[in-house]
Amino acid sequence: MKYALITGGSSGIGFAFSKQLAAKSYSLLLVGNREDDNREAVRQLSRDYPINARYLTMDLSIPEAAEQIFDFCKREQIEVEVLVNNAGMFFFDTVVNENYNRSKTMVQLHVTTPTLLCAMFGHEMKKQRKGYILNVSSFSAWMPYPGIAIYGAGKAYMKNFSRSLAYELKDFGVNVSAICPGAVDTDLYSLSLDNRKLFRKLGVMHSPDKIAEIGVKALFRGKVIVVPGILNKIIIGIVFLIPPIIINFIKRKAKLKPFMDI
Ligand SMILES: NC(=O)c1ccc[n+]([C@@H]2O[C@H](COP(=O)([O-])OP(=O)(O)OC[C@H]3O[C@@H](n4cnc5c(N)ncnc54)[C@H](OP(=O)(O)O)[C@@H]3O)[C@@H](O)[C@H]2O)c1
Repeated sequence: MKYALITGGSSGIGFAFSKQLAAKSYSLLLVGNREDDNREAVRQLSRDYPINARYLTMDLSIPEAAEQIFDFCKREQIEVEVLVNNAGMFFFDTVVNENYNRSKTMVQLHVTTPTLLCAMFGHEMKKQRKGYILNVSSFSAWMPYPGIAIYGAGKAYMKNFSRSLAYELKDFGVNVSAICPGAVDTDLYSLSLDNRKLFRKLGVMHSPDKIAEIGVKALFRGKVIVVPGILNKIIIGIVFLIPPIIINFIKRKAKLKPFMDI
C-alpha cells in the first residue's frame, strides 16, 4: 500500500494536503505533536475516504525526529511514495531576545527535520525510481526582514534546497517541489476570525484547500517552485524595491510589539 506522509497533517494547510492526497487514493500517515488532533483528523479522513489513515504523535523539533519517523515506517512497513514537509510555526520578534529555545525549535522544525526527512525518504524513493516530495516554504522566502529573520531564512533555505534536490532526483523519477504561499487562512498567526474573514474577502488570504490543490497539482506535474496567486507573484517581483525606511519601520515595530497587536 502506497502512503503519503504529511507533517502537521491534522490542521490548516496540512489537513488540506491530507484530503487532496486521500482523494488520490493514497493511504496517509499524519505526523504531528498533538495526539487528540491527530486522532480526530484520522477519524475524519477514514470516514470520508476509502483509505487507510494512521498517525504518529511526535514533536518534530527534537533532533532525532526524522530518524524516529523513518524507523517507525520501516518497522510498520509503510512505504512512503509522497512526503509533504508542512509542519511549521510562526512568531514575530527580533532574533536576539530572551526566548532562545523558541528560535532553536523553529530552526529544527523548519530546516533540520524536513532536510533529513528528504534525505532518508528521498533515498528510498530513488531506489524505487518513483516518489514525490513537497516542501512548504513561503513567500517570505524573498523577504529577509526584521521580525521574521529566522522564519524567512528557513523558508528561503527550503525553497533553495528543494530546487537543488529536484535537479538531483529528477533522473530517478522523483519529483520535488516547494510551494511558497502568501497569507493563508489558518491558525498560524493567531489572527482573530474577523480579521481572517476580512482578509479572505479582500482576496489577500487564500483558503488552505486552494493552496493544497495548487501544491499537489504542481507536485505531480513536476513544477519545482510554486507561488500561488497573481498578487503574490507580483509582490515577489518587486519586493526587493522596498526602501530601507519601510524595513526600519518594521524593525521598530518588531522591538515593541508582538505580531498580533500590530
Ligand atoms: N498560514 C500561512 O499564511 C502560511 C503562509 C506561508 C507558509 N505557511 C506554512 O504552511 C505550513 C503549515 O502552516 P499552517 O498555516 O497550516 O499553520 P497551522 O494550522 O498552525 O499548522 C501547522 C502544523 O504544524 C504542526 N506543528 C507545529 N509545530 C510542531 C512540532 N514541534 N512538532 C510537530 N508538529 C508541529 C502543528 O501541529 P500543532 O497544532 O499540534 O502544534 C500544525 O499541525 C507551515 O510550514 C507554514 O510556515 C503558512
